[in-house]
Amino acid sequence: MPETIHFPGTHEIHSTNLIPSSAPCVMLIFGATGDLTKRLLIPALYNLACDGLLSDNFALLGTGRTQLTTEAFHEHMSSEDQGIRKFHTRNTFDEAVWNKLASRLHYVSSNIDDPEDFKKLRDQVVQLDKQYQAGGNVLMYLATSPSLFGQLCAKLRQAGFNDGPGWKRIIIEKPFGTDLESARKLNQEVLAHWEENQIYRIDHYLGKETVQNLLAFRFSNGMFEPLWNKNNIDNIQFNVCEEVDVGSRGGYYDGSGVLRDMMQNHMFQMLAYLCMEPPASFAADSIRNEKAKLLNSVRIFKPEEVARNFVRGQYGATLQHNGTLKSGYRETPNVNPQSNTETFAAGKLYIDNWRWEGVPIYLRSGKALWKRGTEIVVEFKKAPIALFHNTPVERVSSNRLIFNIQPVQGIELLFQAKVPGPLLGLQKVDMRFSYGDAFNVSRYTGYEVMIYACTNGDATLFSRGDLVEAAWKIAQPILDYWKDNLAPEFPNYTRGSWGPKEASELLKRDGRHWYEVATTEILERLPLFKDSDPLLLNSLTMALRPITASAGEFILHRGALTKEMYLISHGEVEIIDSTGQVIETLREGDVFGEISILIATTRIATVRAKTLTDLFVLGKADFCRILRDHPQFAETMLKVAKERYSITLSKEQLMS
Ligand code: BG6
Repeated sequence: MPETIHFPGTHEIHSTNLIPSSAPCVMLIFGATGDLTKRLLIPALYNLACDGLLSDNFALLGTGRTQLTTEAFHEHMSSEDQGIRKFHTRNTFDEAVWNKLASRLHYVSSNIDDPEDFKKLRDQVVQLDKQYQAGGNVLMYLATSPSLFGQLCAKLRQAGFNDGPGWKRIIIEKPFGTDLESARKLNQEVLAHWEENQIYRIDHYLGKETVQNLLAFRFSNGMFEPLWNKNNIDNIQFNVCEEVDVGSRGGYYDGSGVLRDMMQNHMFQMLAYLCMEPPASFAADSIRNEKAKLLNSVRIFKPEEVARNFVRGQYGATLQHNGTLKSGYRETPNVNPQSNTETFAAGKLYIDNWRWEGVPIYLRSGKALWKRGTEIVVEFKKAPIALFHNTPVERVSSNRLIFNIQPVQGIELLFQAKVPGPLLGLQKVDMRFSYGDAFNVSRYTGYEVMIYACTNGDATLFSRGDLVEAAWKIAQPILDYWKDNLAPEFPNYTRGSWGPKEASELLKRDGRHWYEVATTEILERLPLFKDSDPLLLNSLTMALRPITASAGEFILHRGALTKEMYLISHGEVEIIDSTGQVIETLREGDVFGEISILIATTRIATVRAKTLTDLFVLGKADFCRILRDHPQFAETMLKVAKERYSITLSKEQLMS
């Protein structure tokens, strides 16, 4: 018997058979000259074609206000700087596949205020359907301004797009509404003309393999599900960190903000996948019922609860190392110079059901932060330390399961192991699964699977109307509170940082901290670790603990005996001598505090944060272990000691 694999939804694929191609259809894209079409939709269709997954009975009709001939549309989509050659995601470009796909792309301009143009579009679709024998199936893709979604649905219906043989489906891009009321209204407008099972509300996060894998991981591995509840899990952190700023999207973003742009949709979708009850089956509605049920169990905050549980931020102008000033959010084109829109948000939610009662769910997302990285950290409750009394073990860390969604794709389980040797010592170690190592797959845009699933009538990866409304219900009180209470402290974080101080204080109050997942790639960017042994970097990523210090806050006091060294991720600190003079300023990538753990003395200087500073802390036990295991790191430390403090140490002294 061939092994059976379940594709998201109801399709069963036998690994020795070929995966069936997408269903025949004519795909009509509104907004075909826009960014989404050239950057994602056409590359996704091209990927499907490369993998033999695009039906031979497929044709695309693009439309938009721009007057273009089909030939000009081809040219645009094929061009080096604007088209497929720029945006494809394969390692090599296959001309033959592209030429075949390009021959199936058509264009006709239209004005959506003109009913005649809708007739023209319909005639064109009917003609393409005949030419390509698409069986009357029509996939309408609304990639326009969201303000047009409702009227497009109405006009398509009025123009007869629901008539005739075959299926008719509509993919609606995000955002679906801008608040609860507008989402409800849009649902009503859409559903006045179409059935719910014809509407495919898209959220591109559900197209990501690593997000889909959350369900596969939870429900195909017997060992985790019994632990997946308040008895064993201490807290869950969802982190979507973006390095990019708002850039040219100011016009859209200033009316949105991160709560609408990232949390209400992408993050709540991931939350639902991670925390929902097991569905009865992998059928679309089984999964969607559970997701909606989960979101409906999230506590809806009262205004005072919003104030307590959510914080927001906006990035300001930042002085770069080279002395140039990089503008802040308020200086972005098409953004109100007094804008109160948040480019960062962090908060705590509760799911009021049997499984999750009392488990804090932390969420955090922002633009212009220190790295691009989406990860979910599930932190388990700690083992009791009592057993280790009278041993050298001082603390037991919690187990963490980390889902690396992007750009690192994989899963990591952190646990503790005995350090080899005669004494009982513990060290954090990890088990890692990396997609890149386990599967030989091409990079996808995420839209392939969405288009493929839609043509096959599989709505698993799309949001149902009730789910969208449930997500808005959670976000609404936060939006209302923020609208009624402006943020006088904006801007409150600098580019390249971990976000505003309020975010770390939010968790500090609970006796926790955010897990800043430092990848080896990030450490490699720091001069100290450039070209370092990957094993060393890996050990460091597991040992580093993040802290944030406010401007003016003391990090170390002269004369104190502490057992930690510090690595500056962002910001500046001042080194102050015994007379109170600032003798040096250290910045991003610099280390300090190593000397007193190197030679076990008290601190020889005071260190104070000059700006809001993000730091990684390395404890003495980990430091010494890493020195022992990685002579290269020891060499670097000897060099630092010599250059900075004119102290010459032998390797033996260092290791002692
Ligand atoms: C979009 C948001 O939905 O998602 C953008 O509008 C954001 O602001 C993007 O940058 C992030 O997507 P990804 O796939 O890069 O994580």
